[in-house]
Amino acid sequence: MTKAHIAADPTSRILGWYDRHHRDLPWRISPPMAARGERADPYRVWLSEVMLQQTTVQAVKSYFALFTAKWPTVTDLAEAETEEVMKAWAGLGYYARARNLKKCAETVAFTHGGRFPDTEDGLKQLPGVGDYTAAAIAAIAFDRQAAVLDGNVERVISRLHAIDAPLPGSKGMMRGLVAAMTPARRPGDFAQAMMDLGATICTPKRPACVLCPLNDACVAPVSDDPQRFPVKAAKKEKPVRLGAAFVATDETGAVFLRKRPGHGLLGGMTEIPNTDWTARQDGATGADAAPFAAAWQNCGTVVHVFTHFELRLTVFRSTVSRTAATGPGWWEPEETLDGEALPSVMKKAIKQAMPEAFRPRPRTTEIEKAHTP
Ligand code: ADE
Repeated sequence: MTKAHIAADPTSRILGWYDRHHRDLPWRISPPMAARGERADPYRVWLSEVMLQQTTVQAVKSYFALFTAKWPTVTDLAEAETEEVMKAWAGLGYYARARNLKKCAETVAFTHGGRFPDTEDGLKQLPGVGDYTAAAIAAIAFDRQAAVLDGNVERVISRLHAIDAPLPGSKGMMRGLVAAMTPARRPGDFAQAMMDLGATICTPKRPACVLCPLNDACVAPVSDDPQRFPVKAAKKEKPVRLGAAFVATDETGAVFLRKRPGHGLLGGMTEIPNTDWTARQDGATGADAAPFAAAWQNCGTVVHVFTHFELRLTVFRSTVSRTAATGPGWWEPEETLDGEALPSVMKKAIKQAMPEAFRPRPRTTEIEKAHTP
């Protein structure tokens, strides 16, 4: 029998720890209210969970503030222009999430009368809502006894039980262990407590085991080095793709931009003209691949890592007359570039050629604007 099996009620200890040490996050209600049966707004829970997929809490906070100021309800978001939503999302990455966010808001607003389904199965029918997100919303917004397993929780559980089986194969087993610990009362607080424990105590490096409420139940520190968990299957090296990108400016500093097709990688987002991204070393990645003739200057290469490949873009710049730029697109003044739906890779490329672009503008200005009638 492992220590985890003989320790007294780890679930209550985790909830007690959460009451004292939870993070105050804008999409949460504080635990004493949850303990009295009050629940978080499903719209805010859903929005935060979609934003938090693959993105840190710190990065999400300002986007969450912007979205909820501009679109306080799911119906407001459903009625928004898609282009506005893509612009507000720009920089958060994984743009299929933004397209699904809009579709999901429309489904909830126009098919479900503005109310989110309140079960895991019902939530899973919504666009962009997978197993994890459905479980998180069901637990946090609707008090369902759903087992919520994200990267933080995987770390806590794999250490608690010193699980040697590697991820992702061990996910199912871990979900079963989390389900066994998830209480009928306060399941949403339990899920968020496990996330906070993973984020603040059971950290990837140098976990603070002495402060952990599960300290005497946890197998990893006594049997082994906790940092060894979760064990992960060896990652394949990411393939490299090459391309060229072209920053054409007019004499005022305005930049020539285009819109990407609505589907596929970075679908519907804004870009500077660029070539196909190819795995072939002999692909067209030089100035001769430019969309129109100009005196292109090589400004160096930017590297951007996507989920399935690493992109190396050689960036060229030229100042041209507006009539020289051919093909669909428009000229965007330098001062308003930041308001465009430019993904991070495109911003990086523009900055490489124009270090003066994207001078920081506080996002609060945007939030204030959203409040102005
Ligand atoms: N990561 C994903 N969902 C979260 C939440 N509700 N609280 C904190 N971190 C999270």
